[in-house]
Amino acid sequence: MEKIQEIKTSGPYYQQERELRNKVLLRPIGIPDYGWEKNDKISWHFVALKGQSVIGCVILCPLDKEKSKAQLMQMAVDAEHQGKGIGKLLVNHLLKFASENGIKEVIIHSRSEVTSFYTQFGFKTEGEEFEEVGIKHQYLSALL
Ligand SMILES: CC(C)(COP(=O)(O)OP(=O)(O)OC[C@H]1O[C@@H](n2cnc3c(N)ncnc32)[C@H](O)[C@@H]1OP(=O)(O)O)[C@@H](O)C(=O)NCCC(=O)NCCS
Repeated sequence: MEKIQEIKTSGPYYQQERELRNKVLLRPIGIPDYGWEKNDKISWHFVALKGQSVIGCVILCPLDKEKSKAQLMQMAVDAEHQGKGIGKLLVNHLLKFASENGIKEVIIHSRSEVTSFYTQFGFKTEGEEFEEVGIKHQYLSALL
């Protein structure tokens, strides 16, 4: 049985989260391991745990001083656990956390190939596709 938990970058599950991001997000598009952690310290981190193993993760990065707007980033589910509802649990947990903590808008720079994964939660596309880290992305936004 999987559970979703908020974790700290000083805590024991953070290293597993970093490894999962290397494997699922960075290596497939040629970004060096640990190469996309600039927002980690200021973000909230959520992981999906199966026993003691991190099998999914997502982070929420505040974008303004008032913490009224934040960006969902670094969403990843381990390949062997994809398609079993873990991503959905993570996004629902993040949105609940955001609305309970005064965040009014969540945005995403979604990889274009997964945009429809996010629209099921009420995110709306805005503008044209753009390139980021060498691949096509789409801007998405949801008002809470
Ligand atoms: C995209 C990702 C996070 C989805 O997580 P997941 O655990 O596999 O998704 P779930 O099993 O929770 O799927 C929930 C729903 O979203 C749909 N879905 C899953 N992956 C999808 C995708 N790539 N595109 C569109 N819809 C998708 C499922 O069909 C399911 O629909 P249902 O509830 O009607 O059955 C995961 O596949 C992943 O890590 N992909 C590689 C990394 C990546 O692209 N991350 C996003 C960067 S912006």
